[in-house]
Amino acid sequence: MTDAASASDRDRVGVLISGRGSNLAALMAAAQNPDYPAEIVMVLANAPGAGGLEIARKAGVAAVAIDHRPFKGDRGAHERAIDGALREAGVELVALAGYMRIFTPWFVQAWRGRMINIDPSLLPHFPGVDTHARALAAGHERHGCTVHWVTEGIDAGPVIGQAEVPVLDGDTAETLAARVLTAEHRLYPECLAKAVRSLRDAANVQPSR
Ligand code: GRF
Repeated sequence: MTDAASASDRDRVGVLISGRGSNLAALMAAAQNPDYPAEIVMVLANAPGAGGLEIARKAGVAAVAIDHRPFKGDRGAHERAIDGALREAGVELVALAGYMRIFTPWFVQAWRGRMINIDPSLLPHFPGVDTHARALAAGHERHGCTVHWVTEGIDAGPVIGQAEVPVLDGDTAETLAARVLTAEHRLYPECLAKAVRSLRDAANVQPSR
């Protein structure tokens, strides 16, 4: 056994995206390290034009678009297609990275305890969208990002980790978003590793089946 985790030691992660994929890129960069406990085996987008798909393809990672639009509002059918693709790829843990669709309870249950998300706010402040503008409007002096387990409430699951940034005089939603994004790129790889380790610890205390 070497110090470096062998390929089979690494948990198989699927990343769900809707857009540019800068957090995906941060996760993929971390997973380049052979000691990192997870490998990114699949990137899946609901938008065929999502920039992150190209990032994945260039790195040789399987990149799949399952466009929600042909499902014509049948969210369950779209989610069953995503679920099938993840399982076929042997995904063990799902990381949401800018995935902009809300799941039905069925999908959340199907991946409960095996799905994490990054949110650009210091939860429980500002769950949902427009977090940076809302932090500014509320006059907060600290803002940041949170990685959490996904449960049925919006951005309400147990927190894995948080990173704070200051709100500076003259900040706009855009300048604040950029500062938070830099923190996201550090936080998400740390928290994905932490999530993998906590799943392993939990598996080690379960009686064998
Ligand atoms: C990030 O701010 C993330 O926290 C939020 O959506 C944004 C995605 O950005 N959930 P990117 O696609 O990772 O660049």
